[in-house]
This record gives sequence, structure tokens and C-alpha cells, in this order.
Amino acid sequence: MKILVTGSSGFIGFHFSKLLLEKGHQVHGIDSMNSYYDVKLKKARLNILTKYKKFSFTKINLQNDRKIKNIFKKFRPKIVVHLAAQAGVRYSIHEPRVYLSSNIDGTFNVIEAAHKIKVKHLIMASSSSVYGGNKKLPFKEIDKTESQLSIYAATKKANESMAHSYSNIWKIPITMLRFFTVYGPWGRPDMALFKFTKGIINGKSIDVYNKGKMFRDFTYIDDVVKGIYLLLNKIPNKKQFGKYKYDSLSNVAPFRILNIGNKKKILLLDFLKEIEIRLSKKANKNFKPLQKGDVKRTLSNIDLLKSITGYNPKTNYKEGINKFVKWYKNYYKKN
Ligand SMILES: NC(=O)c1ccc[n+]([C@@H]2O[C@H](COP(=O)([O-])OP(=O)(O)OC[C@H]3O[C@@H](n4cnc5c(N)ncnc54)[C@H](O)[C@@H]3O)[C@@H](O)[C@H]2O)c1
Repeated sequence: MKILVTGSSGFIGFHFSKLLLEKGHQVHGIDSMNSYYDVKLKKARLNILTKYKKFSFTKINLQNDRKIKNIFKKFRPKIVVHLAAQAGVRYSIHEPRVYLSSNIDGTFNVIEAAHKIKVKHLIMASSSSVYGGNKKLPFKEIDKTESQLSIYAATKKANESMAHSYSNIWKIPITMLRFFTVYGPWGRPDMALFKFTKGIINGKSIDVYNKGKMFRDFTYIDDVVKGIYLLLNKIPNKKQFGKYKYDSLSNVAPFRILNIGNKKKILLLDFLKEIEIRLSKKANKNFKPLQKGDVKRTLSNIDLLKSITGYNPKTNYKEGINKFVKWYKNYYKKN
């Protein structure tokens, strides 16, 4: 099958493209290779993908709507998985406009291009951050999401609305995936696991927000990409939610929203303790107040995704951290 992946040099996009290639699919990747974080890491991921014969790639910014449309027309993917975005809650405090251009304009261009070539299924990244200030745990797709706490989260919520309207008007089958703190090898340098590991190894102090009293539903990358893979041919369809009392399927459009998490909430301090154990070294912690825009707790309900695909995340955080630390040491020894 021909599948187009945006953000293919990014953390999730790389792992997902690699899985598709291992399964024998033909993949076209798109990425701007921007310098939000270490471009060498993006290049190293891309180098791995380009070893596969069935992989092709275009370096392009999603804002370039004409060229994006041409790429879609030329490659003619059956399915598009849109993972490119300006990610990160903290960066969005000081650079909000980047989020508007990449996440609003860029996503619009992807939806429009997917519509023009009549894709069978468009899968797009949303985020657990759309639940924002919600107090009730676990987060269910049907919960109200009216209180985003950062511009990053607001752009993801906007993406869900934009996608719904396009799905309604043009009947494009769209699935929005709300990711919950994805971590693992080849992970993002701006995220806690990477920053903690790097800081501890280099003997630098690490910033720990809200005294580490934050909970995250950490989801291991292999579980995430398997979940996306299982969804490819599961087009939004009302029958899928029959046995559930609640659903996230639109009444008017072939559109749905699904959580993709690990359904376990881990205290940030426990997460950090495990990194210290794996590195056999204590962290020099610099406790800081809760960062503006951050949420204190996330926890997913994943019943819907499970009912549709059998998705069953298996990796516990200790195992996941161990795999990350091994990758980190090995990667930075060579590079
Ligand atoms: N990693 C997580 O924990 C997490 C959680 C929730 C949501 N998400 C969402 O999942 C998706 C993938 O996240 P990730 O962690 O792999 O992030 P990432 O930053 O590693 O990957 C995103 C990729 O998109 C590319 N990109 C950014 N703006 C672009 C543009 N305008 N045009 C073309 N390419 C562009 C970047 O160069 C990068 O390689 C994003 O949409 C993100 O918002 C991730």
C-alpha cells in the first residue's frame, strides 16, 4: 500500500515510517528538517529510512501548499498519516506564531491536499494536551475539551475542528489521534526523558517542574506505532462503537477522535528515579514551579482504540526507560 507520512524525520514519524517499510509498504516521507531541535538527529533518522528501497522523501515545509498538492498528486497515497507539527508546550509560550504557521496553515494544506486526491483514510496527530485543565481522570474522548492551557494545545484542538468540518463537507474519512507523552529510543531532545538522561550523564543540573509532582501517561513508542498501524484500514464507521456507552464518532461525518495512551499514570519523580537507577547516578535536581501552560496530570482511557484494533500497550515505563538509556548511550558514543 502507498502511504504518505508527514514529519517522517521526527520521532514518531520515523518509527512509524520504519514499521511501514518493514511490513513492505511504499512510503513517501515529508519533513522540513527544521532546527527546533538537533538536525543531526533528524538526519540520522532519515538516513535509516533512505536505506529502504520503498522509501522516498521530499524536504519541504507544509506551508508550501502548491508543492504539497503536487507531491500528493504525484505519489497518490491511499492513506496519509499526518504527524508533522511544531510540537512542545514550553516553546509555544515564547514562539506562538510558529505554531500557527506549522500546525494551522500546515495542517490545513495537508487536509486540502488529501481531499483533492480522495484519500481512503487520513490519520492526524492531536494531543492529550487538548484535555487541558480537565480534572476528571482518565481522559475520555467524549469529555469536554474547552480549556486548553497553551497555544500548542489550542492549535491541536483547532486541528480537530478543521478536520471535522472538512470531513463533514467532503466526506473524507479522518481519524484524530490524541497521543499521550510518547517516549523511547530516538526520542525528542526537548522532552523530559531525553533532558534528564543528558543532564545526569553530563553532571549538569536538571530542571524539575512542580517539584516533580506531576503525573504523565507515558506511552512507549513501539506500542504507539503498532496502534497507528492497526488503524490504517479501520475507516471511521459507526458500527465500531456499538457496545460502548460513549463514543467519539461524529454524527454527521466519517470522523472520529481516539486516545492512544498507556492508561497508567506515572509520577514524574518515579520516572526520574528509574532513570537514575539505569544510569547508576544521582540527578542534581533544580526544582522549579509548574511551567506556564503545563498540565499536572494526564491519564488516558483507551477502550475505544482497543475495541477497534485490539490495541494493547505492553511496555511498562521501567522497561521503556531501560531501552531509551541503552539507545542514548550507544547513539552518543558513535556521534
Ligand atoms: N511525542 C509526543 O509525546 C506527542 C504527544 C502528543 C502529540 N504529539 C504530536 O505527534 C506528532 C509527532 O510528534 P513528534 O514527537 O514525533 O515530534 P517531532 O518534532 O519529533 O516531529 C515532527 C516533525 O515534523 C517536522 N515539521 C515541523 N513543522 C513542519 C512543517 N511546517 N513542515 C514540514 N515538516 C515540519 C519537524 O521537522 C519534525 O521532524 C506531532 O503532531 C505532535 O504534536 C506528540
